[in-house]
Amino acid sequence: MERAEDAGVYKLTDDLAIIQTIDFFTPIVDDPYSFGQVAAANALSDVYAMGGKPLTAMNIVCFPIKKMDIAILREILAGGIDKLHEAEVILVGGHSVEDEELKYGLSVTGTIHPAKVVLNTGARPGDKLILTKPLGTGIISTALKGKAADEDAVASIVKSMTTLNRKASELMQETGVRACTDVTGFGLLGHAAEMMEDSDISMVIHSAAVPLFPGVKELAETGMVPGGLHRNREFRRDMVKVAKEVPDYLADILFDPQTSGGLLISLSAKKAPALLERMHREGIKEATIIGEVTAEPKGKIIVS
Ligand code: CO
Ligand code: CO
Repeated sequence: MERAEDAGVYKLTDDLAIIQTIDFFTPIVDDPYSFGQVAAANALSDVYAMGGKPLTAMNIVCFPIKKMDIAILREILAGGIDKLHEAEVILVGGHSVEDEELKYGLSVTGTIHPAKVVLNTGARPGDKLILTKPLGTGIISTALKGKAADEDAVASIVKSMTTLNRKASELMQETGVRACTDVTGFGLLGHAAEMMEDSDISMVIHSAAVPLFPGVKELAETGMVPGGLHRNREFRRDMVKVAKEVPDYLADILFDPQTSGGLLISLSAKKAPALLERMHREGIKEATIIGEVTAEPKGKIIVS
């Protein structure tokens, strides 16, 4: 609990630890089945980010039973269980309460070798930073609520948010990784900042190299962004230095809160091309090197 790790790890024996995490939220897409899938992929992601193997899950449901059709809940739960099935995770229970606003999510328990835990700290100067999914799910889902998102943009975030980080996690562990986290509510730069905590390092993020969902640029340019983006940016204001030539909208996108975002992986420059190539071959097509870990100026993220 000392650091902002993605999940809790509890050592049982010298070669076995359990890993636990929980996540739930209000719908971010209209289709109930897709929402269930997104919620499950998102909840599982913290286990994958630490290199764990998820085994069991439990549903958490808040549902306005008096004003919403129970069929909607059934669809959500079907989406969740199908995604668990794909991940080879067993649903072992859950709990539901009546609530004014619908919320769904899961708690996930897995196993991990205590010596093989991938922390979010441990990056070293010279490392490359790989991001495995594009940015912009917060901006597009905000536009969706305001009826300003186009169908293709929504389809592309749904496809990405329902994609498990499982393969990316397996490949990074096989290649050798120094640090990893998943990009979620604090945005890319917020989670990058967490990777630097208690370390004498800095990072350079090449904004033009960061993959974006279609339409995100246009929405960000018009200022249609979620409130969380501004809070994320304000919170890390002293840590992040944005170069003059980087447009404001692009710097904003780097703070966009993500749901079921990609893994942000730090690994040696020597190993990075091999991991990237394997990811592309295995269908993680959007994985890209977006920057590197540097030694100076300590504690700062330079956005170039
Ligand atoms: Co996380
Ligand atoms: Co989480």
